[in-house]
Amino acid sequence: MTPAIALVGLGDIALGAHLPALLRSHDVRIAALVDPDAERRESAAFAVGAPSYPDLSEVDGVDGVVLATPPWVTTGLVVEAAKAGRFVLAEKPIATSLAEAKALDALTEHERARVQVGLTYRHDPALELLREWIAEGRLGGPLLVRAHIYDERRDESDPAHAARLEETLRHGMPVVHEGAHVFDWFSFLFGGPPSEIRDGWSLATRQGLAEPNLCGARLDYPQGTVVLAEFGWLTGALPRCEISVLGDRGHVLIDGGTFDLTLDDGRSVEKVAFEPDRATRCFDRQLTRFVELMTGVRRAPSPDLADGLAALATSERVATEMGAR
Ligand SMILES: NC(=O)c1ccc[n+]([C@@H]2O[C@H](COP(=O)([O-])OP(=O)(O)OC[C@H]3O[C@@H](n4cnc5c(N)ncnc54)[C@H](O)[C@@H]3O)[C@@H](O)[C@H]2O)c1
Repeated sequence: MTPAIALVGLGDIALGAHLPALLRSHDVRIAALVDPDAERRESAAFAVGAPSYPDLSEVDGVDGVVLATPPWVTTGLVVEAAKAGRFVLAEKPIATSLAEAKALDALTEHERARVQVGLTYRHDPALELLREWIAEGRLGGPLLVRAHIYDERRDESDPAHAARLEETLRHGMPVVHEGAHVFDWFSFLFGGPPSEIRDGWSLATRQGLAEPNLCGARLDYPQGTVVLAEFGWLTGALPRCEISVLGDRGHVLIDGGTFDLTLDDGRSVEKVAFEPDRATRCFDRQLTRFVELMTGVRRAPSPDLADGLAALATSERVATEMGAR
C-alpha cells in the first residue's frame, strides 16, 4: 500500500524541496496540505490537486506527516502527530532550545521510533565519501576544520525575506538554526559530538536585531580535531560558504552550496561532484528512508530524535558560549 502523506507548513523549504521530492516519488501519495495561511494553502492545493486544511488536527487518514514548519511550532506538532499514531519527518531544528524540546519527553519509545529528523544533508553521499577519506587516513590527523556557513543574504529588494529572517533571529542566533545541520555533519565525520567548546564570539552588524547575526566558536572533537565554525545571515553581501578540512597529508575543500569535494594531497588534486544537485539528491534520499520507515523496510529512523537533540544540544552550548562573549 502506498503511504498517504500530509505536508504541513507550505513555506520556502516545503514548496522548494519537500513538495518536489514528494511529487518525484512513486512510493508516496500526497493526501493533505496544511498551512494556516489561506493564500499558500490555496495555491499549493491548486498545483497539487490535494485537499488543504488550516490545521493538522483536521486531517484524517494519513500514515505520515512531513513537518516543514518553523521550529517554535514543530516541537508541538511532532508530539501531536506521533501521539496520533503517525510517522513523522520533522524539519530541523526539532526545537528552538533543549527546554522547549522537553515536550518530546511525552513520547513513548514506540512513538519516538516513528520520528525521523530532517537533518537532510546527512544523507549526502559527499559526506559518506569524506568520512571514508578521513577514516582511511588520506588527510592524516589531527584535523583543523574551518567552517564558514554563510547563508540568507539581506536582499533589499525582498523585504519580506529579511523580515522573516529577523523574526527567526528572535528565536536564536544563526547557529541555533544552521548549527543543527552543521554539528550533525561534524559528529558524523569526526566520530561524535565535541568534547569541549573553547570559546565563542558574536556580532550584530546593524542596530535593532533581536540577536547577533554573525557568530562563531572553536570546538574540540574526538582525536584532536579542532573546528573553527562561523555562521552568518543578513548582511548585504556574504563570504563564500565552504568547509575546509586540513590534516598533515592533505586538504579537502567542501563547497557549501553543492557539496562538491576537492581533495589535494600535495601530489595531485581530485575533484568529486555528485549528481543530481545537492538538494534533489538529499531530499530524495531522505524521503526514501522515511518511506522505508513507514513501510517497515527500515526498523529505526535515521537520523532519529536523539540525533536531532544532540545537534540541538551542541548548537545551544555553542550559542551560550557565543552569547557570553
Ligand atoms: N532541511 C533543510 O535543508 C532546510 C532548509 C531550509 C529551512 N529548513 C527548516 O525548515 C523549517 C521551515 O523553514 P522555511 O524557510 O520553509 O520557513 P517558512 O516561514 O517559509 O515556512 C513555514 C510555514 O509553516 C507555516 N506554519 C506555521 N505554523 C503552522 C502550523 N501550526 N501548521 C501548519 N503550518 C504552519 C507558515 O504559515 C509557513 O507557511 C525551519 O525549521 C527551517 O530551519 C530546513
